[in-house]
Amino acid sequence: MDGHLAGHQSDVRNFARSLDPADWRSLRALGHRMLNDLFDDLESVGDGPVWRPMPNAVRDAWQAPLPRDGAEPEHVYDEYRRLVAPYGVGNRHPRFFGWVHGGGTAIGMVAEMLTAGLNANCGGRDHAPIAVERQVVRWAAEMLRFPPEAGGLLLSGTSIANFVAVLAARRAALGGAVREHGVADARLTAYASGGAHMCVARALDMAGLGSASLRLISDDGAGRMRIPELAERLPADRAVGMRPFLVVGTAGSVDIGAIDDLAGLAQLCRESGLWFHVDAAFGAMAMLSERLRPLLRCIEQADSVAFDFHKWMQVPYDAGCIVVRDQAVLQAAFARRADYLRPTGRGLAAGEPWPVDLGPELSRGFRALKVWMTIRTYGADRLAAVVEHCCALAQRLAATIARTPELELAAPVALNIVCFRVRGCDDATQERVASLLQEAGRTVLSTTTVGGRRVLRAAIVNHRTEEADVDAAVSDVLATLAIIRAMPGR
Ligand SMILES: Cc1ncc(COP(=O)(O)O)c(C=O)c1O
Repeated sequence: MDGHLAGHQSDVRNFARSLDPADWRSLRALGHRMLNDLFDDLESVGDGPVWRPMPNAVRDAWQAPLPRDGAEPEHVYDEYRRLVAPYGVGNRHPRFFGWVHGGGTAIGMVAEMLTAGLNANCGGRDHAPIAVERQVVRWAAEMLRFPPEAGGLLLSGTSIANFVAVLAARRAALGGAVREHGVADARLTAYASGGAHMCVARALDMAGLGSASLRLISDDGAGRMRIPELAERLPADRAVGMRPFLVVGTAGSVDIGAIDDLAGLAQLCRESGLWFHVDAAFGAMAMLSERLRPLLRCIEQADSVAFDFHKWMQVPYDAGCIVVRDQAVLQAAFARRADYLRPTGRGLAAGEPWPVDLGPELSRGFRALKVWMTIRTYGADRLAAVVEHCCALAQRLAATIARTPELELAAPVALNIVCFRVRGCDDATQERVASLLQEAGRTVLSTTTVGGRRVLRAAIVNHRTEEADVDAAVSDVLATLAIIRAMPGR
């Protein structure tokens, strides 16, 4: 026996082989209790604090060594209730405005339980969970108004979906050789606005192109990429031996919710032979709404779109999505089969193409069930109403801020994100307001930089948020400011 295991007293041969419970009745009762607790928690989620910091004793509890002996599930669940449940992110709460996080739903919650019950591996093979995923991706393509040959995949989030898009664009630019020999000195360059999410630069880094291959184009003051500057940059880069291959438009920038002129970018990409990708992490959901859809005009002309179901569609984490206008391009970028995965045309090993041929993962979970159950339960129109409501709340918040002498808006409100500042206060004070508010648990805002200055940022994404919640955000900021001003030696 290994030295470090030698001292252990128990004899593993004494254990029952199966990990199924010896007493199903007691685990079933515990399961019912867990489900009841979950529903209770969710039903009253707005009553408690948005967030509470973990006490040191809780942090310390997460430093335990590997347990050699198991514990009763009741005991383990008790640990969960004490050490995990009270200290979540808080994004289920109606006054969580911190980052672009969806609020989740009760139906999504139980879908996750069903998913775990089925324990399907969705890398491939011929089974219903793959059919569900294809259905969901077809719905996404329909939402984006993509052509019938479109295809895609569910992924962990938009960061990875953007990465998959970069790899597809790279394969389209360099041909199949790049998959065998790498990028060598291809000198590919990509373009996005300065407000593009940091994961775009990281995707280029991970694709072996280097984050410096991303050229950031300045914006028009409202966060939209200046297309004339992009048009000038392309020949200038070509003239010095670079090879432009990709433009990433943003539909809903993370800082202020700005939407690039997608029609203009689509046209330029068509004329210049560039792959046009849109990062629509949360903005894609505006396509569900007749009123908001025109903001994303021509997104259907993109070569690929990345977005999340876990943000504005309220599907529990995680559920990102890549949709490519021609699935064959995705297949060309990823398909590779080992002998043990060879398609057989019939039986369980049929069902081509497999998701493993369309993306980087082999083993992958059944993310599609919670997405399908969410869309099937609420329908696209009800989800569109959530998106419209959040935008209306953002306008209400912006109007309240504009009327409040102590505050000033820091950016135009394009969708559901409101950036503002406490007038006459430095950057440190803006951050202090956000941190104190978070610690008080009343309202969670975050901070970012707009125009070189730190600002408070409210992202309104949660279907539970109401007018009173956004009104409370303003009064909470003012109350916090009063506390800061009253602090001795502030
Ligand atoms: C515009 C944009 N792109 C990408 C991302 C990253 O998405 P994810 O966190 O799902 O990876 C975000 C996250 O908020 C985003 O707002």
